[in-house]
Amino acid sequence: MMQPTIRDYCADDLQRIQAITISGFDGVSIAQNIHNQLGPVGGHDWTWHKARAIEDDVEHPQAAVFVAEIDHQVVGVITTRVDLESGIGLIPNLAVDASVQGQGLGRKLLQHALAHFRACGLTTAHIETLDQNPIGQHLYPAVGFREVARQIHYAQDLTAGNASE
Ligand SMILES: CC(C)(COP(=O)(O)OP(=O)(O)OC[C@H]1O[C@@H](n2cnc3c(N)ncnc32)[C@H](O)[C@@H]1OP(=O)(O)O)[C@@H](O)C(=O)NCCC(=O)NCCS
Repeated sequence: MMQPTIRDYCADDLQRIQAITISGFDGVSIAQNIHNQLGPVGGHDWTWHKARAIEDDVEHPQAAVFVAEIDHQVVGVITTRVDLESGIGLIPNLAVDASVQGQGLGRKLLQHALAHFRACGLTTAHIETLDQNPIGQHLYPAVGFREVARQIHYAQDLTAGNASE
């Protein structure tokens, strides 16, 4: 593999990072779980919701987003939020193109984000992964995260008249 480089996100990257995120999150996405159980939400399939989440990530006022490139091709992305007041750096999304997974790029993107958090003076980094995502559960402790909580997500279809009153 050619040496990857990591740089700041720019607006031209949006469609590419949405595509990488959507294909990467197939099988490890809350939006997809909801779609699988309740059907399309608001008339949109889960990939639309994932693309929107990435748009929210890049437009967020505290956003710091980085992409990994190999041979001038974007092959990975990490989205973050830098909250100087709370001291917390949040990582909402991380994805690496399937063609180059398992070669250390995810770890590099995480380390880049963590270095950015430190350079900003943040004191804590926060990331989540799903119970159904073994790679996240391996990778995050490997770069220094410790498990602090488990959460259960619920969703309810408000249109089918099946909500209990
Ligand atoms: C998570 C993701 C970004 C990691 O990117 P990557 O470039 O493959 O990551 P790395 O190569 O740096 O590290 C992957 C690690 O997971 C390990 N791994 C791979 N498959 C695994 C599995 N099924 N179970 C446990 N660990 C696994 C690899 O061995 C490697 O660990 P090592 O360096 O100790 O050997 C990438 O797999 C991805 O895009 N996944 C889909 C989206 C996703 O899950 N994002 C994170 C959501 S929380």
